[in-house]
Amino acid sequence: MTADGWFTASAPGKFVVLGEHAVVYGKPALVLAVDRRMTCSVRPADRPAINGEYVDISKQPHLDHLTRGSGRTLEFLTRSMIPVGSGMGSSAALSAAVAKAIHAMKGEACTEKQLVEEAYAAELAAQGSGSPMDASACVHGRGIAVNIPGSGDELWTISRGDRTWRVSDIDVPDMTFVIGNTGIRAPTGPQVDKVRRFVTRNRFGADILDEIESVTLEGHSAIAKRDRELLGRLMTSNHKLLSILGVSCKELNRLVNASLPYSYGAKLTGSGGGGCMVALTDEPEKVCEAIIDHGGVPYVVQTGVEGARMETGQSEDPEIRIPIRCRS
Ligand code: MEV
Repeated sequence: MTADGWFTASAPGKFVVLGEHAVVYGKPALVLAVDRRMTCSVRPADRPAINGEYVDISKQPHLDHLTRGSGRTLEFLTRSMIPVGSGMGSSAALSAAVAKAIHAMKGEACTEKQLVEEAYAAELAAQGSGSPMDASACVHGRGIAVNIPGSGDELWTISRGDRTWRVSDIDVPDMTFVIGNTGIRAPTGPQVDKVRRFVTRNRFGADILDEIESVTLEGHSAIAKRDRELLGRLMTSNHKLLSILGVSCKELNRLVNASLPYSYGAKLTGSGGGGCMVALTDEPEKVCEAIIDHGGVPYVVQTGVEGARMETGQSEDPEIRIPIRCRS
């Protein structure tokens, strides 16, 4: 706690190497946390406020959910290096960091699994449906596999309805990834709904999910063998399958196509419809140039980073402001 009563925690953003959307249906996925973090401070208050502005907290679904769980009225400070609505896990990182800071404020110990459950519940309250993949990656950091038997140490299992997600730790590969942001904000909920409509109405929907499953399982072996060429090819195949599901867009395709000449492979990452793509490369400068030339913003990301953790104070990183937003 700082002298003025704030409890501060941070959590990393993430990108999905393989398997987004299919994971919502219990299929496997691989995710790496990155060195862009969300830092959040909380303290008890008479009126809810974010970054010094009084707010109607009911219009901030993640914070509203976590505030109710705390049983107190809270104010928040947020500072983030994770672009919002970009597929890099900004809302899961927000939820994980706030959940961690609230436990500290209440003087309670908490396990990683508890934090995942709380962050996932906040995500569901905000977006209605989805998997605990983003929450798991932002809480645990490093790298995770979801529903891949024989991957690393098992971390936790989360079930909802008839779906179960077994999450394990993976060895983070020493590979270079460049993220390209289209700058188009695309919230997750509508993209998940779009895929649900495709999968339920189109008789090929289940086949596409099965193909994503195969690509992801093979990608897990490629990571274990450090086979960049195979992993890259699988990422590009995954992009094509996600395009068939309808979650790519011309801006994402433009950045993926521009990166491919200098990459082992590239794909959209996260829920799509805008947001970010990711390329696996040994030529990060050339990929960055290609992304800039085609209207995107590149980030060369470091992986192998720590998950949700307490901080001694607010981050000094240049800020990407969390919008104070409305539910509708
Ligand atoms: C978003 O980062 C990942 C999705 O698979 C949704 C989810 O798993 O909740 C699209």
